[in-house]
Parts: sequence; C-alpha cells; structure tokens
Amino acid sequence: MSTPAILVDNVTVHYGEVLALDSASLSLDAARICGLIGMNGSGKSTLFKVIMGMVKPDAGSVLIGGQSPSKARKEGGIGYVPQSEDVDWQFPLSVRDVVMMGRYGHQGFTRRPSKADRAAVDEALDRVELGEYAGRQIGQLSGGQKKRAFVARGIAQGATMMLLDEPFAGVDKRSEATISRLLRELASDGCTILISTHDLHAMPALCDEAVLLMRRVLMHGAPELVLQPENLAMAFGLDVLNRDLPAADPASADADAADAARAENRS
Ligand SMILES: Nc1ncnc2c1ncn2[C@@H]1O[C@H](COP(=O)(O)OP(=O)(O)OP(=O)(O)O)[C@@H](O)[C@H]1O
Ligand SMILES: [Mg+2]
Repeated sequence: MSTPAILVDNVTVHYGEVLALDSASLSLDAARICGLIGMNGSGKSTLFKVIMGMVKPDAGSVLIGGQSPSKARKEGGIGYVPQSEDVDWQFPLSVRDVVMMGRYGHQGFTRRPSKADRAAVDEALDRVELGEYAGRQIGQLSGGQKKRAFVARGIAQGATMMLLDEPFAGVDKRSEATISRLLRELASDGCTILISTHDLHAMPALCDEAVLLMRRVLMHGAPELVLQPENLAMAFGLDVLNRDLPAADPASADADAADAARAENRS
C-alpha cells in the first residue's frame, strides 16, 4: 500500500477551554482534490493549521507523505492559501514579494532571488493571470485576486500539496473558475489538494472526494454521497426532525450556536 499524502490520526486540539478538533482522522491519497465542509467553528482552519504544523495537536499525529509537518513544510512541499481573516493585508509586501516567499526554500541564507527564482515567480503570476498586478501592495487587490496571489505562491514553491482555506469566499465566478481550473491542472500534475468551502454546489464538479467535519471527520467519500441532505444535516448540527430548531442556512451556521441550540432543546 502506498503512503498517504496526508494522514491525520486521532488528532485533538484545544484552544484553552475550546475543543476545536476531537479525535479527527483523515487519510488522503496523492493527486486527489478533496473538499472539506463543515459549519463555522467546526475546525476546518484548525485542521489546516495542524497539517501545516502551525498548531500542535494535544493528542494524535499528522504525517505528510510519511514525514512530520514541520519537515514537509521546511522542504517546501506544502502550499497554503489561508482564510482571508488570517492574513494581515496591511503588511508592506507586493504581490511579487508574496509569490517570491514561495521561493525561500530554494534560496540560500542571503535570500537573494536568482534568475530561476524570478522566472518561477513570473511564470506563477502568469498562470494565475496576475502579471499586471505584480507591483501592487497585496492588500490592494480584490478578494479573488488575493486568493490567486497565494495560489501563485504555492505554484512558485513547487508544492506537492496545496491547502486552500475557503478560496472561493467573496470571489466572483471568473476568479472561481480560474482557481478551479488551476487546481485541476495541479492535481493532474500529481499535487494533492485539500480545499475548504461553503460552496456546496461547486463541489461535485471540482472535488474527487469530500469530507464532512464537525470537530471530527463524520464522513469521507464521493461528493455526491457526502452531500446527501441527511449527511449535511448531521454535519451542520441541525436536527431536521426537530421543528423547534430554526431552519438555519447551513453555510452560515455555527458549531457553538448549534451546540447551544441542541442543549436548549434537550432541557
Ligand atoms: N486562536 C484561537 N483561539 C481560541 N479559539 C480559537 C482560535 N482559533 C479558532 N478557535 C476556536 O476553535 C473552533 C474551531 O475554529 P476554526 O477556525 O478551526 O473553525 P472553522 O471551521 O475554520 O470555522 P469558519 O467556517 O468560521 O472559518 C471555534 O470554536 C473557534 O472559535
Ligand atoms: Mg475557517
């Protein structure tokens, strides 16, 4: 059996008192596009951060192609498109600087870009159709352009895995189509892709498989199966048979609120 590209084994994460992941397990093969869905607060961003090695689990383990996350990250194997809320958009970096960050692992201590580094950055910017914005401060891009800049960073890096945290949030159809096309191209070149999204309609066309998260992995399988209404009801914390609960919009539901509503209904 081949080594999984991502192996998350019984991972638990707390932030202080808050339980963000509760024995979450996930195994993902290489060159697949996997969609991650779950309500607000269900632990999607935390799962990305654990896979990146940015958050250490309280229990359980993560292996990236059989390596520790920190080693995989040091070797430049993981590209990361963070959720917009996790980025300081005021930071004085141009679009080109952000994409060049993907080349740090290829540079020596001086971090002086070589001709090859500059060529890789130009090519990545062209692929995401941002060449003309290269000199602009990163915060002065539209939502969709910002996402594409981070995708370009992963491409310049030569990442074999891309983690995209809500790349379609606040993005128009053109940017969404550009990003989706790029992800398909990257996957067919062997890149493993994990992507969180609230755009349930776009999932079957883009993703080979889907994961339902509610602090733990409730389900992992073909998108058509995972997106069955009864499965969505389970993941979004809605008791569809209980009419006292508000008919919440799954995309804007919240894990803590759902817990509170359930607790209130029990009392
Ligand atoms: N830095 C932090 N400090 C304290 N609690 C946190 C922190 N980051 C996340 N949390 C909490 O951990 C839980 C999981 O958060 P996380 O950001 O992983 O969810 P999410 O599924 O990405 O949500 P969203 O759809 O809103 O992006 C939430 O209850 C959240 O409030
Ligand atoms: Mg999130």
